[in-house]
Amino acid sequence: MGTEAKHNGGPRHVAIIMDGNGRWAQARGRPRLFGHHAGARRVREIVEACPENGVKYLTIFAFSTENWKRTQIEVAGLMSLFRRYIMKEMQDFVRQNVRVRFIGDRVRLDEKLSALMDEAEELTGHCTGTNLTIALNYGGRDEVARATKRLAEDVAAGRLDPADVDTETLPKYLDTHVLPDPDLVIRTSGEARISNFLLWQSAYAEYEFIDTLWPDFTKDEFHCLVSSYGGRDRRFGGVKA
Ligand code: FPP
Repeated sequence: MGTEAKHNGGPRHVAIIMDGNGRWAQARGRPRLFGHHAGARRVREIVEACPENGVKYLTIFAFSTENWKRTQIEVAGLMSLFRRYIMKEMQDFVRQNVRVRFIGDRVRLDEKLSALMDEAEELTGHCTGTNLTIALNYGGRDEVARATKRLAEDVAAGRLDPADVDTETLPKYLDTHVLPDPDLVIRTSGEARISNFLLWQSAYAEYEFIDTLWPDFTKDEFHCLVSSYGGRDRRFGGVKA
């Protein structure tokens, strides 16, 4: 387990859109999956860097509800990478005291992957260090739609009074209901978009769009972004005290 930094007003929850694996591989004349494998190694490095940076929650966008539009070869390769990654890292997460959770809709995921996700969540359920959340078949709109459906079911069953529905109610139905909102959202690879990631949860997050391609993103760069966040003034729509 790494040394936990004293919390200094830096971001407690960092969310990352890990973009640029494909371009990184293409620049080396290699198939896109080569980039995804390099990207997976970076995930490990950044998870390890969380405690020393005072980051208690890390949420990463691994596969979106839109990513099924990629070629069958790339989708199958990514699914196999996720299976292997979970199998390989599970014990290490326990050793590092990392609690793993998954968000997203599992319905389209294959049974073996889904079973491994359950296993990783159970095995790390007692861990009290970094909270790593992996978004897999995740889309912000899809999450809000699924949450609204469950909320409507509770209303129809008489368990919830529509008059009681407010901005505190809906988040209880989101996949992220046990997590705090992200303080800082980072997107690599030069695109300034949020691509359907944590739409509800990031309402007051700070954003960092950086040019680095995900497989080149290092813990030093992570440290710089986390440190520069510490100097910002977040007012949540209010005025400075
Ligand atoms: C976006 O890059 C990346 C993805 C769709 C996959 C993210 C997956 C990883 C980083 C692999 C490892 C993750 C885990 C949890 C093991 P892109 O392919 O869209 O890149 P491009 O924009 O350059 O084409």
